[in-house]
Amino acid sequence: MHVLSVSSLKGGVGKTTVSLGLASAAFTRGLKTLVVDLDPQHDASSGLGAIGVYRETCAEVLENPKHNVVHRAIVASSWSLLHPGVMDVMVGSEKIRALDTPNPSIRDLWKLEEALYRVEEDYDLVIIDTPPSLNALTRTAWAASDRVLVVSEPAMFSVVASYRAVSAIKEMQAKLNPRVATAGVVVNRYLEGNQEHEFRLGELKEVFGSGLLEPYFEDIPQVQQAQGAGRPIHLWPGEVTQRIASNFDHILNQVIASFNLHQPAETAQTTSRFARFKKVMRGSGLESVIKFDSAEEKIAGNQDAIDRIIQMQGTEEAITIETPTYVYVPGGKKAKY
Ligand SMILES: Nc1ncnc2c1ncn2[C@@H]1O[C@H](COP(=O)(O)OP(=O)(O)O)[C@@H](O)[C@H]1O
Ligand SMILES: [Mg+2]
Repeated sequence: MHVLSVSSLKGGVGKTTVSLGLASAAFTRGLKTLVVDLDPQHDASSGLGAIGVYRETCAEVLENPKHNVVHRAIVASSWSLLHPGVMDVMVGSEKIRALDTPNPSIRDLWKLEEALYRVEEDYDLVIIDTPPSLNALTRTAWAASDRVLVVSEPAMFSVVASYRAVSAIKEMQAKLNPRVATAGVVVNRYLEGNQEHEFRLGELKEVFGSGLLEPYFEDIPQVQQAQGAGRPIHLWPGEVTQRIASNFDHILNQVIASFNLHQPAETAQTTSRFARFKKVMRGSGLESVIKFDSAEEKIAGNQDAIDRIIQMQGTEEAITIETPTYVYVPGGKKAKY
């Protein structure tokens, strides 16, 4: 299972549109797909036909990522009535807004990772639609992700916003989740021939180079129609729509290639002084998780033990770690080391 977040620090640029377009591409090519709707506006859930009232949603999952809660918050999309395959959604809810705080605890940031660990065998691809900010929800999404796709309009300030997003992803990689990296920047709502757009596109190219993915998505009404009708774009008729659908196929290919491309290097801390504390993350074998679990139990939540470990490394430098690395163990315990 691979996990992709779709993010931007601005609203209305097309995060949900790109999330649903990629979900449509994945679903129609036979990948078992889950969309996690972390945006309080929950447009992705609506687009996937999950418009009922749900007792369990992403909000309850982030409060308590237990097996039963996670499974009840996931429902089948109505897209699955139109095409064979698996297309599910972890439903969004307005309630989640209360969790989007500016200073989440490390423990909270791992909640979605823990939830997805419970469905690891069920999906090939998980796409997380995130809110347009860098608060708790987006960071929770990135902590659970392998890659982040940044969506950008070719408009004023979007270069700066995209650059900030990419920098924030790098920081997340250095401090919390070494697995995460940028999958690239996608351009949406592009108007060919529009001078301002051409100029901003030039800026984006200059800043991101090959990180700027092609093709670009034009602004066309059919995108909204398919979305409003709760249909996957790949199953919406018309030549223009099919061109957009094929653009999403191309972007999905690049995203999948990026999953396999570069495994982020482990941090220097992990490889040298802390080598014996193997990082346990979703994706490692259950065996190593269990083995590690017992070792981890001893130090988790025990500040004395953590201090002792740091002291045993002997240097002042080790005591003043500026970018602490955190260990996640399914089941809830984490330790700083
Ligand atoms: N390429 C496009 N062509 C036409 N309309 C689009 C396109 N991309 C997005 N939209 C529309 O713009 C609005 C905002 O897009 P959305 O994906 O919801 O943005 P975000 O999730 O970033 O807030 C929606 O009504 C959507 O249907
Ligand atoms: Mg949205």
